[in-house]
Amino acid sequence: MFSPTSVAMRTAARGAFRQATSSSSSITAAPNSNRGLSSSRPAFNQAAACIVGRQRRGYVATTNPNPPLGKKNASNDIPSRIGLIGARGYTGQALIDLLDQHLYMDLQHVSSRELNGQALQGYSKREIIYENLSPEDVARLDTDIDCWVMALPNGVCKPYIEAIDQAQKHTGHRSVIVDLSADYRFDKQWTYSLAELTKRSTICQSTKISNPGCYATAAQLGIAPLLPFIDGNGLISIFGVSGYSGAGTKPSDKNNVTLLADNLIPYSLTNHIHEREISHHLGGAKVGFVPHVASWFRGIHLTINIPLNEVMNSRDIRQIYQDRYAGEKLVKVVGEPPMVKNIYKRHGVEIGGLAVDSTGKRVVVCATIDNLNKGASTQCLQNMNLALGYAEYEGIPTM
Ligand SMILES: NC(=O)c1ccc[n+]([C@@H]2O[C@H](COP(=O)([O-])OP(=O)(O)OC[C@H]3O[C@@H](n4cnc5c(N)ncnc54)[C@H](OP(=O)(O)O)[C@@H]3O)[C@@H](O)[C@H]2O)c1
Repeated sequence: MFSPTSVAMRTAARGAFRQATSSSSSITAAPNSNRGLSSSRPAFNQAAACIVGRQRRGYVATTNPNPPLGKKNASNDIPSRIGLIGARGYTGQALIDLLDQHLYMDLQHVSSRELNGQALQGYSKREIIYENLSPEDVARLDTDIDCWVMALPNGVCKPYIEAIDQAQKHTGHRSVIVDLSADYRFDKQWTYSLAELTKRSTICQSTKISNPGCYATAAQLGIAPLLPFIDGNGLISIFGVSGYSGAGTKPSDKNNVTLLADNLIPYSLTNHIHEREISHHLGGAKVGFVPHVASWFRGIHLTINIPLNEVMNSRDIRQIYQDRYAGEKLVKVVGEPPMVKNIYKRHGVEIGGLAVDSTGKRVVVCATIDNLNKGASTQCLQNMNLALGYAEYEGIPTM
């Protein structure tokens, strides 16, 4: 159980963290961008600067231009009050499990139309009853909440955001909002927050956070270190296979276990929203993404073909990945292609394979991610920690 704390104390605690991080964390962000990896000739030059590696303050001194913000960067030890909209779904439930183990997150409201009136299971810090919260309810409750998490399907969130915005014009309160859907991933008013690639100090100062998609997280992490070496005339092709929890709880062919038995279902073969997301947030890299769904429940495998602009070998490429992700506790670079069964319920991304063909100008990178963890709820908690002033990995089992 947490004790009540004044708004002034909460705001001061978050503010101190923001100041501390904003003065220390400048990486290679392009003007008008909150990412280390985007501009108009984009990504390639930016990322080159990252690879060369400026050393910055962090808890490890490395070639990683954007190192994690550890305990020494945290300033807040006051519990934060959390409201979760879309709590019945797969990602909402995965987040509840994490919040239950977190030192400072104090879940106060969970919303679901279907479970309205039922007791929340799996949360031990207080008794909570599911409510069916409307946008107006959320606006009314906003001053008592430090962070809202929206775990709703695409296209549903907007009335909630508008109601909170409207209420805050009168109250001046600034809750953090993290949205798990794709609705704000291309919106400049929001911070697209993939902590390993987004300037972390920007996330610390953000109140509107758009959580990246699951496939898009693994793909960007799998491609980003090589951006300076990619042949811009070629296509980066990404073959992805997800477990069926990726399709959410609403029944469809993509989560029909009978149809999926002994089967693999391709879908959205062109123009999947994650294709646009990956390309956009890697500075316009040319990407073709083909998703599939398989019969297992959770976990994604990606095989990524990358055309190179110079002859390289596997060992050099592995070194590039290891340098870029040095100190990262949610990214693991491995030798062999990682296996999806090994990432089940784990909280990071494994990247491996890194096989170069006989011309030396094409590399195949494999990446695995648990779509409900680093693909959604773990990433959400990582962002909540940063935005609320806690150590980035607080409450997250690292790799
Ligand atoms: N599943 C994944 O692997 C994954 C990974 C990354 C991101 N995401 C994104 O995260 C979001 C949530 O995904 P999910 O898999 O957790 O979905 P889900 O399992 O289908 O759950 C959706 C949640 O939203 C609520 N809901 C549905 N329609 C609603 C409406 N019209 N108004 C209010 N509430 C509504 C549902 O509860 P009630 O019906 O009881 O109200 C449920 O709690 C989606 O935008 C998804 O794209 C998912």
